Amino acid sequence: MDDIRNIVILTGAGISAESGLATFRGPDGLWEGHRVEDVCTPEALARDAALVHRFYDERRAKLAEVTPNAAHEALAALDAQWPGELLIVTQNVDDLHERAGAKRLIHMHGELQSALCAACGKAIRWMESLPPASVCDACGRPHLRPDIVFFGEMPYEMDAIDAALRRADLFVSVGTSGAVYPAAGFVQTALHAGARTLELNLEPSAGSFYFEESRMGPASELVPALVRDLLA
Ligand code: APR
Repeated sequence: MDDIRNIVILTGAGISAESGLATFRGPDGLWEGHRVEDVCTPEALARDAALVHRFYDERRAKLAEVTPNAAHEALAALDAQWPGELLIVTQNVDDLHERAGAKRLIHMHGELQSALCAACGKAIRWMESLPPASVCDACGRPHLRPDIVFFGEMPYEMDAIDAALRRADLFVSVGTSGAVYPAAGFVQTALHAGARTLELNLEPSAGSFYFEESRMGPASELVPALVRDLLA
C-alpha cells in the first residue's frame, strides 16, 4: 500500500453498531420499527411532523448514551497523521466521528445535532429536542426541521465528494449495506479513477462485486488493522 496518497473512506451505520447505535437494515434495525416513508421523506414531514420530529429526537437523545469505538478512533488517528489527502464521507448522522477527533469529514446525509430552516436554509447546531414549528433564529419563521437528508432529497457536498473520489488512490467502504445511492455508487467512481477499492463489513454488501477486496468482520477490528497498515 506504499503508492497511496489520496484516500476516501465511506462509512455507514455498521461503524457505529459496536458503539450501541442501531443500524437500519439489521435484525433490530431502525427501519424495522418504522416504515422509511413514514419518517424519512419530505411527504412524511408534511403529513405527520410530530412523528418525524419525535423519531429524530429519540435518536439525538441516544447520542448522550454512546461513545466512539475503536473504528472511529482509528479513522481519527489516520486523519491526524495521514500526509496525503484524506476524506471521511459518512452516511451516518451521529457525532461519533467528530467525538473521536476526525476533522476531514463530510456528513452527506446531514446530522442529528443540527436543525435546518426550511424557509431560509440556515443550519443551526441543535443538541436538545426539536419540536415542530420551532423558530429559526436567523429568519424568525417557525420552520425548523431535523437537518437530515430525506429520501428523494439531494445529499450534501456531492461536488466535493465526487472530486475527492476522482483523485483517490484508495477507496475504503466501512459498515454499509450498499443499499442507498448515491453513496452505493461511490465505489464505481473510484474504480473508474483507477483507485484501489476495499470493503470492510460484517457481511457482503450489495456492492461487493465492485470491490477489489472485501474483508468480513467487525469494524472495531478491521479498521484499526487497516490504519496500522497504512501508517506503517
Ligand atoms: N462492523 C462492520 N459492519 C457492520 C457491523 C460491524 N460491527 N454491524 C453491522 N455492519 C454492517 C451490516 O452488515 C450492514 O451491511 O453495516 C451495514 C449497515 O447497513 P444499513 O443498516 O443499511 O446502514 P447503511 O448502509 O449506513 O444505510 C445507508 O440508508 O436508511 C438510509 O440514510 C440512511 O444513511 C443510511 C443509508
